[in-house]
Amino acid sequence: MTSLFTWKRFQAVTLTSVMMLAAAGCGGEMTPDEQPVVEPAMTEETWDAEQYATLYSTAHGAYLFTTETFKGNGRTCATCHTLRTGGLTPSQAQATFQKYPNSPLFRAIDSDDGTGASYNQLLTHATVTVDIPLAPNVKLANNPTARTIKLRRGIPSTLDSPRFDPVIMLDGREATLQSQARGAILGHAQARREPTTKELNALVDFERVLFSSLKMANYAITGTPPPLPAGSTESEKRGRAWFEPQGACGMCHSGALLNEVAPGNPLGLPAGLHFMNVAVSEVNLMGNPVQEFLVTQPDGSTVPVSSPDPGLMLLTGALQDQGLFKMVSLRNLKNTAPYFHDNSAKDLNQVMVQYGILLEGLGIPLTEQDKADIVAYMKLL
Ligand code: HEC
Ligand code: HEC
Repeated sequence: MTSLFTWKRFQAVTLTSVMMLAAAGCGGEMTPDEQPVVEPAMTEETWDAEQYATLYSTAHGAYLFTTETFKGNGRTCATCHTLRTGGLTPSQAQATFQKYPNSPLFRAIDSDDGTGASYNQLLTHATVTVDIPLAPNVKLANNPTARTIKLRRGIPSTLDSPRFDPVIMLDGREATLQSQARGAILGHAQARREPTTKELNALVDFERVLFSSLKMANYAITGTPPPLPAGSTESEKRGRAWFEPQGACGMCHSGALLNEVAPGNPLGLPAGLHFMNVAVSEVNLMGNPVQEFLVTQPDGSTVPVSSPDPGLMLLTGALQDQGLFKMVSLRNLKNTAPYFHDNSAKDLNQVMVQYGILLEGLGIPLTEQDKADIVAYMKLL
């Protein structure tokens, strides 16, 4: 919820940026290095993504992200992508429900059974419904004519990723941020008017200056990724070793957003991959309903696949893509719970339950101390 204080400041900074735009005599996005210093200058501790983005984008972009409903169901992007974390936590959803049970967050499309009768999944897990197109060779066993499938997924953060992540959506199904925004407006917001190209561009300009921290904003200006934090306690320092490019976490979580495979990793994986499988769907700690898919092979035979959400395979129709999901940014992790595509891990300790199961299966059992060290370190990212 935007407090009165932030709203007042929002109006103030909006006014400032409008005046600066007028002074600059242009309506386009301004780059941070062309800007006068933000007063009062923000530090890492006082970082405010909304204030920064409103200053360095346009008032129009901010308005479209936080206020414009496109004659739809009342939702804006910020209904789900709150500007504090970029996403939505169960406690944010619960607080909204208590104060405003008719908030546009609660619309029938994201209710438990689609009729609007109850919202337990949204309140408990902060998951919403997505419609995924099926590859021509993928069928649902119990509904063979369906060409899309509805699944519940968590809401990834829109801080940092629109600027730095080349892969858009958990299965990479959107080619551009503009087409992504249009899809969200017509889908999640059930809009009854098409956004214009100008509006889509203004929205994207705003998203591209939403940063989780001062260090990520500086990365956008300097092009030099922030180094891995050193860690100060002994536990944090031990945790850091797991995130080195050779480490059991860092081999996949490398690069500026810690979401790509590291060069020279011990598994010999090609560097820069964004899609991997850490058995979240296979283990299914969420207990999501398991569905049967029929995947037709080039020789005409059909292979059955059972999964609550087979990820990339739905789009490509390739069996080897089963269970593959995009690694999202690990920056600002302490503020972006719940975790994984299905929001199955409610906190960082539960992330380590999932990895405990995975690594045990690979013959690398983690001790309780290892898990505590890794959790302590992840809070610094
Ligand atoms: C009902 C909640 C909801 C609303 C409203 C919503 N989104 Fe999303 N957004 C999601 C979910 C869920 C995903 C992930 C879906 C997936 O990958 O299957 C997502 C993904 C994204 C991503 C990709 C993030 C990544 O890491 O790949 C971007 C960017 C984004 N949304 C921007 C927007 C914009 C812009 C708007 C407004 C026009 C918007 N969203 C409205 C729920 C929402
Ligand atoms: C084989 C590559 C790989 C390795 C090794 C790996 N991860 Fe991941 N990580 C992934 C993938 C893929 C996802 C997304 C999974 C999903 O959503 O289904 C992910 C997701 C995560 C997330 C959730 C992020 C979010 O916001 O949803 C965290 C936290 C995480 N990993 C931490 C770790 C830690 C800690 C380790 C080491 C113990 C580790 N990872 C090792 C590939 C890997």
